[in-house]
Amino acid sequence: MAVPVRVRGIGAYAPKRVLTNHDLEQMVDTSDEWIQSRTGIKERRMAAPEEATSDLAYAAARQVMERTGVTAMDLDFIVVATVTGDMQFPSVACLLQDRLGAKQAGAVDVAAGCTGFLYAFHLARTLVASGVHKRVLVVAAEVLTRMLDWTDRTTCVLLGDGAGAVILEAAAEGEEGVLSSHLGSDGSLWDLLYFPAGGSRTPTTPETVDQRLHFFKMNGQATFKQACGVMERACQQALEDAGLSLAEIDLVVPHQANLRILNQLSERMGISAEKMVVTIDRYGNTSAASVPMALNDAYEQGRLKPGQLVLMVSFGAGLTWGAAVFRWS
Ligand code: UT7
Repeated sequence: MAVPVRVRGIGAYAPKRVLTNHDLEQMVDTSDEWIQSRTGIKERRMAAPEEATSDLAYAAARQVMERTGVTAMDLDFIVVATVTGDMQFPSVACLLQDRLGAKQAGAVDVAAGCTGFLYAFHLARTLVASGVHKRVLVVAAEVLTRMLDWTDRTTCVLLGDGAGAVILEAAAEGEEGVLSSHLGSDGSLWDLLYFPAGGSRTPTTPETVDQRLHFFKMNGQATFKQACGVMERACQQALEDAGLSLAEIDLVVPHQANLRILNQLSERMGISAEKMVVTIDRYGNTSAASVPMALNDAYEQGRLKPGQLVLMVSFGAGLTWGAAVFRWS
């Protein structure tokens, strides 16, 4: 029999530096009007020069640990979702494990683009449900502004930096916590969002640098077309697995890629504005970090209350998608 799993706490970290649409107007041929009307973004955060992904991950992890009283020695596994690690290897999770002093914890990174948090959440849930691990720290952290081509207006206006973290742990028998988590992928769509060079397929050479192949690339329109369908199906599957209807859900926390995508999802599924958490105006798209950052926002604004049912959903590079339902305690 699977061990029941609960979500214990939420934490996040947003770097201090704010980059507004007006700042971007000075950098590329764009306008505040275009960015707001096409994406809903007003501003995003940018890591300080001395900050790397593991620093953001550490700040978010410290916050959830302080809020819950969970200590580093209480953790027996760490999963970090990121596509912007401090370096190719070792993992951000290992750097975080060392900095936290989590001496009893295994540590691994998960790369699933903007769905990274849902993937890490699902893996942590199954580790705890299996009875092998008791308490897993799940962090999503990204510094995507370092991977952007600041001469390419089609991508550089969209993304921002940030981190979010939760702790999943074994719950008491009969206690309701995580009710479902569902993941999907379609690798045939790998080239909708990718990072062309620097891997084993196209190693770094002076030519790859000259050809600007070390930057985030995206087919925006094709990605947009996939977004609503995969998120809607992921939500339906997660709800069905949890034995719930959307009407019973109190809060929907979606990946923040584009306000138009969120509005379409709300219309198609009939999600009211009161239930929908939207943070894209302030943080832009923070990739894997967007869902836990939005959950943290709802928590800090008092929108997330004990006993409420939460539906999280995301999609991203891979193509990947995922959704999960849990009761907040
Ligand atoms: O989280 C990972 C998943 N990512 C996503 O979900 C992103 C999904 N896609 C999108 O959000 C949208 O496709 C974008 C926001 C990326 C683009 O919006 P769009 O409405 O699809 O614009 P478009 O690519 O069709 O471009 C329309 C026009 C083009 O000009 P022309 O060819 O019509 O003259 C672009 O060159 O807008 C132009 N454009 C810009 N103009 C001013 C593109 N980027 C900009 C810009 N400022 N930053």
